[in-house]
Amino acid sequence: MGLKNVHWVEMLHIVIFLLESIYVIFSILVKMDGVIGTDGVTGGVEDLLIFGTGNNAECAYYYLTHDVAYKDKYVIKGFITEDSDVTAFCERPVYQLGDLGKHFKAGSVKVIAPSSGRNLNKYRERIFNTLLERGYEFISYISSKANVFTEKIGRNCFILEDNTIQPFVEIGDNCVIWSGNHIGHHSKLGSHIFMTSHIVISGLCQIGNYCYIGVNVSIRDSCILAPNTVIGMHSGVTKNTESYKIYTGCPAKIFKECDDTLTI
Ligand SMILES: CC(C)(COP(=O)(O)OP(=O)(O)OC[C@H]1O[C@@H](n2cnc3c(N)ncnc32)[C@H](O)[C@@H]1OP(=O)(O)O)[C@@H](O)C(=O)NCCC(=O)NCCS
Repeated sequence: MGLKNVHWVEMLHIVIFLLESIYVIFSILVKMDGVIGTDGVTGGVEDLLIFGTGNNAECAYYYLTHDVAYKDKYVIKGFITEDSDVTAFCERPVYQLGDLGKHFKAGSVKVIAPSSGRNLNKYRERIFNTLLERGYEFISYISSKANVFTEKIGRNCFILEDNTIQPFVEIGDNCVIWSGNHIGHHSKLGSHIFMTSHIVISGLCQIGNYCYIGVNVSIRDSCILAPNTVIGMHSGVTKNTESYKIYTGCPAKIFKECDDTLTI
């Protein structure tokens, strides 16, 4: 029987069967190789290490394994420490920073270090630079539940849910931006900054490197926070600030001086 004798309905069945077969084969390939994650992001499944064995690392593990934009994109291979003897955390192995290279060559795994603002963010900066110098590449985590209208966000940023980051904002490297903040249009954030929660940075502000901003702070439009400024919780910043000063109150006034030993 020639092809011209096949009824068009049968032809349609054959086409549908072929399309279904292609779909099934493609789905199996995706599952095997992670060609496309559930969020539609292209690229293979990559191995990832989280620096730390504390609360922030545990939160990072939670977000990275639950957020639909990340959970199929990265495989968490373990955690990195330099000051702890624990060998397992979140049911994953813990590797010492000093001999990380014995277990993972640079290039074989990516890293994220969402550590606290300890030592005015210099602690996290040191970890960031140490791993970069050894050739490891950092990712940034930007929650799929954040509203982000800029692509200018650096490496090793950890940006949680309910943040609104408006157009023309720029954010440097190594910034932790916890949940529920507003960063107004055209504001520029440097590197190694820690923003806690429910902060309003109005439009056109500049936040210098190493700043730490407590919960519920408001910053007036166009204000410039000098590098190493600390703003205490619930303050209202109406004027530019000076380096290595802690401000509190509304309008915010200098509360006291600080240095790189500061741990909040
Ligand atoms: C400003 C800050 C750094 C000062 O810390 P500190 O030097 O340890 O100061 P203390 O807590 O000992 O408080 C000293 C005095 O200042 C007051 N004070 C502290 N922070 C204040 C603030 N933000 N606004 C007004 N008063 C404040 C305290 O009530 C206390 O008053 P008292 O002497 O009358 O009792 C700190 O209070 C702060 O705001 N940290 C940020 C907290 C935060 O946002 N945490 C989020 C974690 S995710």
